[in-house]
Amino acid sequence: DKAGHKHFMAKEIAEQPSVIGAALSHYLSADGRNIVLPDTMPDFATISRLTMVACGTAYYACLTAKYWFERLAGLPVEVDIASEFRYREPPITPGTLALFVSQSGETADTLAALRYCTDRVDTILSVVNVAESSIARESDLALPILAGAEIGVASTKAFTCQLTVLLLLALRAAHARGQIDDDRLADILSSLRALPSTLNTAMERNTQIRIVARQLSTSENALFLGRGLMYPLALEGALKLKEISYIHAEAYASGELKHGPIALIDDTMPVIVMAPCDALFDKTVSNMQEVMARGGRILLISDARGIATAGDGVWQTVSMPDIDPILSPILYALPAQLLAYHTAVAKGTDVDQPRNLAKSVTVE
Ligand code: M6R
Repeated sequence: DKAGHKHFMAKEIAEQPSVIGAALSHYLSADGRNIVLPDTMPDFATISRLTMVACGTAYYACLTAKYWFERLAGLPVEVDIASEFRYREPPITPGTLALFVSQSGETADTLAALRYCTDRVDTILSVVNVAESSIARESDLALPILAGAEIGVASTKAFTCQLTVLLLLALRAAHARGQIDDDRLADILSSLRALPSTLNTAMERNTQIRIVARQLSTSENALFLGRGLMYPLALEGALKLKEISYIHAEAYASGELKHGPIALIDDTMPVIVMAPCDALFDKTVSNMQEVMARGGRILLISDARGIATAGDGVWQTVSMPDIDPILSPILYALPAQLLAYHTAVAKGTDVDQPRNLAKSVTVE
């Protein structure tokens, strides 16, 4: 049931405010001030390293979470693609907590990576959508993301629910390790509680993004740039676009532009820059100037201050509501998804069942 939407993907994008709200109610106390996790949750104060393993979009959720765990909790984090991890057979040092992220809970490589860790770590933790899946069953503790059934092959609401749960875990870790003061924790939790309504405001950009997407749909290539927390989201934005619109899209950390990808820039290359006006924004402005000087067309997704700071010369802008920078990947996922969706619709591709792809990759 597409609930009046043309595609499951559109329905699942639109559901995000409510499913994230459901995940938050599940993991927060009634007054919203405390994070509630099962008693069997390992103590983050006693672990020395976190290893996260996943595939595809779930891997990008892990890459985002690495920034959170490091910045908020001071915890060393490794993130790996499951198909690499399982065959590299990396040494696991004592005190490592292994965390697997999967929407379906059936991804063959992620399951094999989990099995590799089974006798090597004290606790196997997973963050899954399908609660009765193999990955959930074979974990010591499986935390549900409560996104509800995701039908569209391109993952959308599972991604933002994964991010929400991973951010709550990072906050728990920060608290357990004495790395965050009560005021900052209360601030972030309050921004999280407001997130469903902030996402609803961002949904109002839908029509504008559809118009931009129509123009993007004539391009053969696209480049996504992001810094810090926006870098993994740039990767996710490029994956979404290529999966469903078949436009060749690449993503780079903005600082890598000069190290190669700038050679691709000419007036046929749209460059999608996702950058709230945070501490790194000035650096992103210089990157945009480098692109514009070579005729590249910039689509800037930022907040009002960022758009004002970027000045003239930007091809298109999408203005996002203000948000605590730590939460920006969850909010900015929405325009990235909508951009891919509307581009695919403009191209007339099969949005929910893109060619060559399966929803759940249960074979290698
Ligand atoms: O079910 P999983 O989360 O383990 O799936 C992982 C990837 O196969 C999945 O995220 C894939 O990349 C999606 N098609 C992305 O939209």
